[in-house]
Amino acid sequence: MLLTENLKWRYATKKFDPSKKVSPENIERIKEAISLSATSYGLQLYKVCIVSDPVLRRKLLPASWNQRQVTEASHLLILCHYLEANRKHVDDYIKLRASVQKITSEDLKDYGDFVTGKLLEKPDRERKEWNVRQTYIVLGNLLAACAELRIDTCPMEGFDSEAYDRMLGLSAMGLRASLVIPIGYRAAGDLTQHLPKVRKPLDELFITW
Ligand SMILES: Cc1cc2nc3c(=O)[nH]c(=O)nc-3n(C[C@H](O)[C@H](O)[C@H](O)COP(=O)(O)O)c2cc1C
Repeated sequence: MLLTENLKWRYATKKFDPSKKVSPENIERIKEAISLSATSYGLQLYKVCIVSDPVLRRKLLPASWNQRQVTEASHLLILCHYLEANRKHVDDYIKLRASVQKITSEDLKDYGDFVTGKLLEKPDRERKEWNVRQTYIVLGNLLAACAELRIDTCPMEGFDSEAYDRMLGLSAMGLRASLVIPIGYRAAGDLTQHLPKVRKPLDELFITW
């Protein structure tokens, strides 16, 4: 199946069929696709909460602009970015990379110093923004991976990140929610699925030099 066909198949699903559940095997495939996302310097400063608990999801509903996908979808994925990006995160990456690539941490010292220097030269606010951006790369892969598996998704920024934080205790884990993605199967009655995709013509999107 071509990527473009998958992307034409998917749409931001407004109404899920609550009776249809994503299988544990497909959840594992989605997790693997997420973990293969590219991230700046390879640091992977994100975590993904996977919520199937209906009670918790009912609590999250008012903090999600009452978007019913939050409770009706099979699972709710919450993409969280780290609140910090510092030397320790770089050191952890160096250790992991050294062990995977069978080299020593010493071999990667210059690289580690370079990355740490680049991180720390950013003002705090910019570093946070940079962390948030990493989760959008994950989002792209997640939507494409789900589309290939014919699993529906709705990417959402329409939620109250502070309320999510309070309910899930994210800041205590050094995290903040940046995106919420219900996944599952479209309801037959979701009229949005029949609407043609609205996209600018290619010659408006691309500048060719
Ligand atoms: C970052 C992001 C945030 C979005 N937030 C919401 C949202 O809160 N609720 C919603 O119903 N759709 C949301 N959408 C879906 C967009 O409206 C939708 O992707 C866009 O209109 C294009 O339509 P399509 O995805 O069906 O092709 C969001 C999409 C993105 C990429």
